[in-house]
Amino acid sequence: MASPYQPSLLRLLHGLTSFGVLGAWVSGVLIYSAYDGRWGKLPIQPPGDWIEWHGYLGLVLLVPAIGLALYSFSLGRQRLGRASNALPLIALALALVSGLLMEGDWLEEGQLQATVYSLHLTGWLLLSVSVVAHVAGLVRRGGWPLAGSIVSLAVRPGDGPRAWPVQLWTYLRRSRR
Ligand code: HEM
Repeated sequence: MASPYQPSLLRLLHGLTSFGVLGAWVSGVLIYSAYDGRWGKLPIQPPGDWIEWHGYLGLVLLVPAIGLALYSFSLGRQRLGRASNALPLIALALALVSGLLMEGDWLEEGQLQATVYSLHLTGWLLLSVSVVAHVAGLVRRGGWPLAGSIVSLAVRPGDGPRAWPVQLWTYLRRSRR
């Protein structure tokens, strides 16, 4: 059986988004532990202005996340029909939009009841659960070869960066018919 292959444009956008999510998740957990901690705290707190890093990472993450969303609603539309693929994207949108509405000093001032902050926490919780469900769904469907295909660096002939505009153009032409 042929090993699963993911288009290179999807792998690039998906990889950048996943790295950004990981960084924002780790810095978010550190902030939660330092300023909130209602449901638990980390035993150690590494020094650093994690609120600033988290905000910065969130802004940088917006770029590949918008790219992945645009890809998913166009070239990746069929895969997005699966709930296990769509849920991480919806949760990420909630986490990012609510994050944009957050004020940095709310947590430092102890304003933990703000609705936007609750939405932001909900977004991150949903994202954590849905990424686990996403990976579990992939492993159930195609085993580790399918899950690992998103990090493979192999590029088939005709799927390099020069093919990306052609792929998009073909999609747009087909969808206009
Ligand atoms: C970090 C958060 C993640 C987000 C926001 C995310 C989001 C997505 C989305 C929206 C798609 C569908 C793309 C399309 O419509 O073409 C997708 C597909 C995929 N993702 Fe993720 N993902 C994440 C993490 C992961 C992880 C950790 C893995 C690997 C272990 C993974 C492996 C895959 C694979 C293999 C596909 C292709 C699925 C298919 O062919 O149906 N993802 N992801």
